[in-house]
Amino acid sequence: MTAEKTALEAGLYCVFGNPVSHSRSPDIHHAFAAQRGDAVQYEKREAPLDDFAGAVQSFREAGGLGANVTVPFKELAFALCDAITERADQAGAVNTLWWDGEQLHGDNTDGAGLVKDIRDNQGWNIRKKRVLILGAGGAVRGVLGPLLAEEPTLLRIANRTKEKAETLAANVMKGEGPPVLGGGLDNLMGQFDLVINAISAGLQGEMPALPDGLLADGAVAYDMIYGNEPTPFLRWAEQQGANATADGLGMLVEQAAEAFEIWRGWRPDTAPVMALLR
Ligand code: ATR
Repeated sequence: MTAEKTALEAGLYCVFGNPVSHSRSPDIHHAFAAQRGDAVQYEKREAPLDDFAGAVQSFREAGGLGANVTVPFKELAFALCDAITERADQAGAVNTLWWDGEQLHGDNTDGAGLVKDIRDNQGWNIRKKRVLILGAGGAVRGVLGPLLAEEPTLLRIANRTKEKAETLAANVMKGEGPPVLGGGLDNLMGQFDLVINAISAGLQGEMPALPDGLLADGAVAYDMIYGNEPTPFLRWAEQQGANATADGLGMLVEQAAEAFEIWRGWRPDTAPVMALLR
């Protein structure tokens, strides 16, 4: 075995967050690595809120090869990078870091993970569909580019704070692309084929009231949040007659697979890992 191969097979990675104790990323990456017997060590690292850069530096000095970044550090990670991918640039946020020599590189795999789960795992179309996304925070900004690349008929962003949805929509709308409309939750109207929830209040078991009739015939609903129970948003969607629903566990595993491939150079099989996490 060559020295180069040994170096690639072993590897130290982590996820930075605060808090981070709930993260399932170590389980996911260890399960990926086990598919080829790679000696990957993947840790949770709680970075101090006031010194994310210092935490990244210490990890690098400890021999870290790459890292994931979760709440609340994705924008800070973006600012810290020497080089970023186009999709991270569009998201204004980075969830995957690695070093190339002294250069810190950043990518954002969240949107690709969402699209892969919706399109390939769930088998739902985004192309030529009317898409509604609820929320206008960092999670939404991170996925708009990859969603629009699938060429929906239109994309509507609805948010409690209307101005945030309007700004996001104006920033991503391109002349030749599908129309992107931003607005409030209170005056939300129309019918949609795919509704995606990214309102983080859903984690605590509460959802804002939504009008009846948003779901078109055959519509499907996706919650970027995941849990052991159906989320409040998915319960609402079922009551509204959704044809199918899915939570964000698949997105979590797919965004991880995308990061793993960047770091390790091979694509892990996601289906058994999703089954394991369930
Ligand atoms: P994330 O990274 O999860 O997107 P965020 O950037 O803090 O987190 O965004 C949280 C999103 O959830 C926002 O769209 C927020 O709406 P506002 O922009 O109006 O704050 C939304 N949100 C949080 N709690 C909410 C609630 N109780 N009702 C409606 N929307 C809520």
